[in-house]
Amino acid sequence: MQNQDIAEILVPEDQLTARVQELADEISLSYGEQRPLLIAVLKGSVMFLADLMRSLSVPHAIDFMAVSSYGAATESSGVVRILKDLDDPIAGQHVLIVEDIIDSGNTLHYLRGLLLARNPASLRIVSLLSKPSRREVDVPVDWIGFEIPDKFVVGYGLDFDELYRDLPFIGVLKEELYAEN
Ligand code: IMP
Ligand code: MG
Repeated sequence: MQNQDIAEILVPEDQLTARVQELADEISLSYGEQRPLLIAVLKGSVMFLADLMRSLSVPHAIDFMAVSSYGAATESSGVVRILKDLDDPIAGQHVLIVEDIIDSGNTLHYLRGLLLARNPASLRIVSLLSKPSRREVDVPVDWIGFEIPDKFVVGYGLDFDELYRDLPFIGVLKEELYAEN
């Protein structure tokens, strides 16, 4: 564990569990008889996906996509690059993008456009976290788990330089660990 690097716990484990179940209930209800295809954006959304899947009451399929991330930086460049594409076409499918966090909105804006061009039957988005004060582009997000302040967070899948993904809560990373000097 790397708890000594955490300044503050923003969302404890029990709140994550409860909120993911709530989201799953709403999502299950809204799809009804449809069978959604959950597209998780690697790697940050894997924990959220795994918990969400187990709480959904509708049958669903999953696929993965990887796009360029910040690497060791904590600011979005606005440039998005596909590192791994989906295994299969999505035409005619009810797609649900599963994302860990929406920050500037650049990643989801790009992904949404890319996937819409492939003619899914529908396209919706669920993001566990959102930093509304950081938004640069408007993206229609159907479900948001938690709105959080403009702080760099790690845990529950989210990383800094590939670390801290295993923490069971969402925590704020101590600033001295990523501040440039
Ligand atoms: P956006 O394109 O600026 O909306 O950024 C979205 C992506 O940036 C997310 O999918 C994360 O991978 C990453 N990201 C944004 N904010 C944070 C954070 O606070 N902690 C960890 N990763 C973040
Ligand atoms: Mg992500």
